[in-house]
Amino acid sequence: MQDYREFIDEVLVDASSIEKRVAELGAQISQDYAGEELLIVCMLRGGITFTADLTRFLTIPHTLDCMSLSSYGVGHYASSGNVRVNFDLMTNIEGRNVLLVEDIVDSGRTLAHVLQMLRTREPKSLKVCVLLDKKYRREVPVDVDYVGFDVPDKYVFGYGIDIDEHYRHLRFIASADLKKYKKEADLNKGLSEK
Ligand code: IMP
Ligand code: MG
Repeated sequence: MQDYREFIDEVLVDASSIEKRVAELGAQISQDYAGEELLIVCMLRGGITFTADLTRFLTIPHTLDCMSLSSYGVGHYASSGNVRVNFDLMTNIEGRNVLLVEDIVDSGRTLAHVLQMLRTREPKSLKVCVLLDKKYRREVPVDVDYVGFDVPDKYVFGYGIDIDEHYRHLRFIASADLKKYKKEADLNKGLSEK
């Protein structure tokens, strides 16, 4: 795995700014759903870190479920437009208040797809909380109820968000200079040529 310091473009959101904003979102959500029960749906895998931190700032009763959709495959750095359901919820959401927690909304295709799918199951309410919004890249309109930060049209990583499955553990969110980023296969090729 390449050291991220070799390809980092800039830190877009540092760890303390993330923590502050996640606390604000948790407080806002707790206020908006006061007196209600909530089902948090973590969108795997990019939403794991954000969901784990966000739920610790919730003061209302809530339960957790996960689902996995993919639109970007390993080695693709632009939305493919193809959305695949890898695995579905275990919870019956009929009559429940559902809040989807996602890492990034980019073209909007992933969220539009999942929202359409979940609406047919007749939840009491269905809302969306995203950590990052790449507003200018929207191809499909989607209503996002809670946004952590707006980010520019750059490939980002860290705080749950990956590049080819790596770098999710970083406490900050940074943009990548993809010209400097080397794919795993190229690194291995370099080693075998030495
Ligand atoms: P959309 O369907 O185009 O809105 O893409 C949303 C999904 O693409 C997100 O849930 C992310 O998994 C992924 N994605 C979009 N932009 C980035 C990025 O800059 N870095 C890593 N993943 C991204
Ligand atoms: Mg995702």
